[in-house]
Amino acid sequence: MTTPIILDCDPGHDDVFAIWLAAAHPQIDLRAITTVGGNGLLEHTTFNARVACTVAGVSGIPIAAGAAHPLAGPLHPADWIHGPNALGGPVLPEPTVPLDDRTAQQLMRDVIDAADEAVTIVATGPLTNVALLLRDAPETVARISRIVWMGGSTSRGNVTPYAEFNAWADPEAIAIVLASGVPFTMVGLNITHQALITAEVRERISATGTRTGAFGRELLEFFCSTYEKAEGMPDGPLHDPITIAMLADPAVATTVLTRLDVELSGTETRGATSVDLLERLDRPHNATVALDLDVPRFWALIEDAVRALA
Ligand code: BDR
Ligand code: CA
Repeated sequence: MTTPIILDCDPGHDDVFAIWLAAAHPQIDLRAITTVGGNGLLEHTTFNARVACTVAGVSGIPIAAGAAHPLAGPLHPADWIHGPNALGGPVLPEPTVPLDDRTAQQLMRDVIDAADEAVTIVATGPLTNVALLLRDAPETVARISRIVWMGGSTSRGNVTPYAEFNAWADPEAIAIVLASGVPFTMVGLNITHQALITAEVRERISATGTRTGAFGRELLEFFCSTYEKAEGMPDGPLHDPITIAMLADPAVATTVLTRLDVELSGTETRGATSVDLLERLDRPHNATVALDLDVPRFWALIEDAVRALA
């Protein structure tokens, strides 16, 4: 049984690997890609999603653009990590994969309506598009099997001391998604920082010998160089594809069912995710939170995907 998914993303170096893993893995049925402003302006993240598919020879998956900015306030792209076009490093080819003329929300609705079974939404950027879908088309709630999101953290952040980028970019969207009642999985920095892109990993990606591997290596070299400059981490973390890996191969990560809330109004903590791992709050559990990654298993999934593509 394959898992039908919609991938909502803001490519972004690590988002590209999420697209590739979703397109290549036999257990994943990628039905649509939607884009959101996040790592870069919407025009860049949309262009980059089309580039990711073009390079990897992925065709026939509709790609539609969604929200250009968060629900409240302006977008602050993560150019210090991803560069001014959100995909620094390689020369980007002109995409041959078309842009769907529907909005992201309309494409999501169409995919959900047309599916025989409930669809999983994977989000690897700010949750703006997903929140707009749930707010404006509440009839879709019962047809979404779960939402798996890269964002947040059980501990500290990476933009402010307490807030992770995707959470910090649109905390109101997280609150809407949590309130919807759709089963929710958070894949936060606490697990993604276990997926470190070592020199050996970079070598394995290019050693696949595919065009995707060569392009991916250039992406990883750029990403690691900016992580070293910005965070003092020479082996940056490949956050986003852990979401897809967990759907493709649930044994790749451990999880816990717990209480998740988001800070909307803290003076220093806006966008912080509060995860009640120690069960100190007497509140119902509302989220599955990823904890520990089987690191070799994860990199094997990535390597196999890159090898299977063009
Ligand atoms: C998240 O922010 C972006 O930079 C990455 O693509 C990832 O989704 C990590 O904080
Ligand atoms: Ca992302």
